[in-house]
Amino acid sequence: MFGKLFGSKAQAATVRITPAEISFIVPAKQTILQAALDQGLAYPHNCRIGSCGSCKTRLVSGQVRELTDKSYLLTEAEMADNIILACQSVPRGDIVVDLPRFSAAGPRHDVVATAATIGALTRVTSDIMALELALDSAITYTAGQYAELGLPGSAETRHYSFAEAPQQAGNLQAKFFIRHVPGGAFTDWLFSAAKAGDKLTLRAPFGDFWLRPGTAPLIAIAGGSGLGPVKAMLDQARADKLLRDVILLFGVRTEADLYALNELSNMARNWPARLEFIPVLSAEPAGSNWTGKRGFIHDVLAEIPRDKLARHHGYLCGPPIMIDRAVQVMREAGIGDDHIFYDAFTDKSSLATAA
Ligand code: FES
Repeated sequence: MFGKLFGSKAQAATVRITPAEISFIVPAKQTILQAALDQGLAYPHNCRIGSCGSCKTRLVSGQVRELTDKSYLLTEAEMADNIILACQSVPRGDIVVDLPRFSAAGPRHDVVATAATIGALTRVTSDIMALELALDSAITYTAGQYAELGLPGSAETRHYSFAEAPQQAGNLQAKFFIRHVPGGAFTDWLFSAAKAGDKLTLRAPFGDFWLRPGTAPLIAIAGGSGLGPVKAMLDQARADKLLRDVILLFGVRTEADLYALNELSNMARNWPARLEFIPVLSAEPAGSNWTGKRGFIHDVLAEIPRDKLARHHGYLCGPPIMIDRAVQVMREAGIGDDHIFYDAFTDKSSLATAA
């Protein structure tokens, strides 16, 4: 009643995630997701703007203020089950949420904001650049996670996944594979004007794409610049001498779009168990000398006997349509959703977020 009379003040709230039993504070007026990411939690998400559904969360108790209408994204059953979008929900007081996909064993690093200097720019295909940065402050991250990059003085940022496994003691360098998005301010600049010595801002790490512990063989799928986090994850697994067989599918349009082949061959040769590397070309001219796989990733995936595919756990990074189709094949083969992990990068590379 007094709140109504005098106007209620926004206050920080506590969010408790079950069944992981992790709690964190959400500052006043922040969304659940923003606060979780700022505190280094690997909360499931992708677009951050209420359009992908990756952050669906069941509200067990308490109330939230919702910033957008979620009904276009959720089914009636989900609405009835109290599902909310963490990226669009501001707690009204303490709340409890149910999020089985959130693992207490997941990465939790301090989020660091630092200045960065371009050390090298290498065009690895006609539209993918390898960007290497020297960082003023050391960061830690888990392979598969991503960073926010921006130009000094600009509020706009872009998200790119680390393309190399981290050094455990902290990283003063970082590498990314970045696809040119014509008309995108950041990548237009990167591909036309950027040079060694130019300054950027970097804030990291974020993301819930990381290799879960286990013994099952892996299907690793990368599309285009989505190779970065998949390669980082496998680099780390090799360094850890992980004894899991891997089928690595790398989908691009033509043979000229393949890159990092020496590193991938080297990885396959030195994998502690068995790693089968299969490049897949979707638009290679019919008369070319290419003798490898042609078509789409999901077609090649469907060639794997179902009972064999069903034993794998899936890790995918690439365009949403590639991921949707590949995940469908995996589900049809019998891989459970709790063993399929993906990072649809297109949203992150093409959308701006407020810093
Ligand atoms: S809908 Fe929340 S992260 Fe995409």
